[in-house]
Amino acid sequence: MTKADLIVGLQWGDEGKGKIVDHMAQTHDYVCRFAGGHNAGHTIVIGEDVYALHLIPSGVLNPNAKNIVGNGVVISPKDFIIEMEQFDNLEGRLFLSDKAHILLPYHALIDQAKEKMKGDNAIGTTGKGIGPAYGDKITRVGHRLGELKNPTKLRDKIIAYFDMNKSIFDAMGVEAPQSQALLEELNGYKDILGEFITDTTQMMWKIMEENKKILLEGAQGTMLDIDHGTYPFVTSSTTVSAGACAGLGINPKDLGKVTGIAKAYCTRVGNGPFPSEDFGDEGKLLRKNGHEFGTTTGRPRRCGWFDAVAMRHAVRVNGTDQVALMKLDVLDGFKEVKVCTAYMVDGVEINYVPYDLEDATPIYKSFAGWDKTEGVRDFDSLPTTAKDYIVALEEMIGTKIGIISTSPQREDTIIRG
Ligand code: GDP
Ligand code: IMO
Ligand code: MG
Repeated sequence: MTKADLIVGLQWGDEGKGKIVDHMAQTHDYVCRFAGGHNAGHTIVIGEDVYALHLIPSGVLNPNAKNIVGNGVVISPKDFIIEMEQFDNLEGRLFLSDKAHILLPYHALIDQAKEKMKGDNAIGTTGKGIGPAYGDKITRVGHRLGELKNPTKLRDKIIAYFDMNKSIFDAMGVEAPQSQALLEELNGYKDILGEFITDTTQMMWKIMEENKKILLEGAQGTMLDIDHGTYPFVTSSTTVSAGACAGLGINPKDLGKVTGIAKAYCTRVGNGPFPSEDFGDEGKLLRKNGHEFGTTTGRPRRCGWFDAVAMRHAVRVNGTDQVALMKLDVLDGFKEVKVCTAYMVDGVEINYVPYDLEDATPIYKSFAGWDKTEGVRDFDSLPTTAKDYIVALEEMIGTKIGIISTSPQREDTIIRG
């Protein structure tokens, strides 16, 4: 029986997971999403073509790879259908779990209303309804994709849910859906998505028995994980490797090689602690050179330096076998490159992620910069100072950097083996 390889984000998301999943999908039979929703934005660049994927797994651009969206994902049928329109021939190579929860437009309205009510304490969510959809799931009032089999019954349940929570919705200014329009909407979803909805758990077991090569695609990043991230400034799902089991119905023994994705520097979008954030000119230069604007919301990403402390935490939580170091080229031309090696908390130096990262100030080590790594495809051709930087990072995080990415293009990827 095969084991499934796993891709997870090691920072605050947007590490470049889409590029690596697409690269690896060329040698895998199945690519499977296990968590998150259309808050994710995974960009894939092939020649002149740029694709932004939110819910469809990043294997879709490889004609031979089949794609599974597992039960751990929250699916907005409306957004899924829009995303599907970019691709032909999805029949037979796209499968949606009947146990995945449905995210409906009112979840997004609730998300936005709650963020507004929080004022200065807002999380800075994507506003897509992720928290409310997972909230309904956990409090056992959500609806699953399998319920689309009977749109009338589902409509009645949703209307009953609105009646039950009327005072809360009224306070948030969220209107109840109109019964007939809701039924039509659900019927439309059933017509388009019905053929793709199946028991993906059974499917996972079967393809493992058939020794298919399977790649599991994480969304978001470890520091956005509901348990292991910077709570409450996190997303509402288990983004770390453990989430792959629950989100697809497989067990820990089914997991194979874990590749953690990390930028050669660090970014975060939304609010919450980010000790190595650079508020000065260098942070601005990282944003400019790295085109650090959100794929999903277009928001400017906060930029700063590689945080080796948070990285060690992420490497351990995920059982990371190797790291893929992305966007090395974005550091091209910097005279000096900094790395956060420890934190100061209450006057004490620590080398782990504390309870509240808000209290931590970074201690940096500086490395000599380099001119150009953009487009380099083998390790030996990298400038010496860039190689020194990579080897130093490996020592600091205690894990091999097996993949290095030097541009958005598929081919500009160094595989060290
Ligand atoms: P994801 O959410 O982890 O898939 O990452 P995003 O797609 O949100 O953000 C990563 C961005 O960096 C995308 O625009 C990629 O095309 C781009 N990218 C990926 N790898 C590299 C790289 O090595 N160099 C540069 N310059 N850009 C990259
Ligand atoms: P990918 O898969 C970066 C962030 C939001 C916000 C917090 C909660 O592209 O790496 P949510 O809408 O999930 O309730 O927002 O999480 N966030 C991401 N940041 N990349 C992502 O996904 C993200 N998905 C959510 O900005 O801070
Ligand atoms: Mg992204």
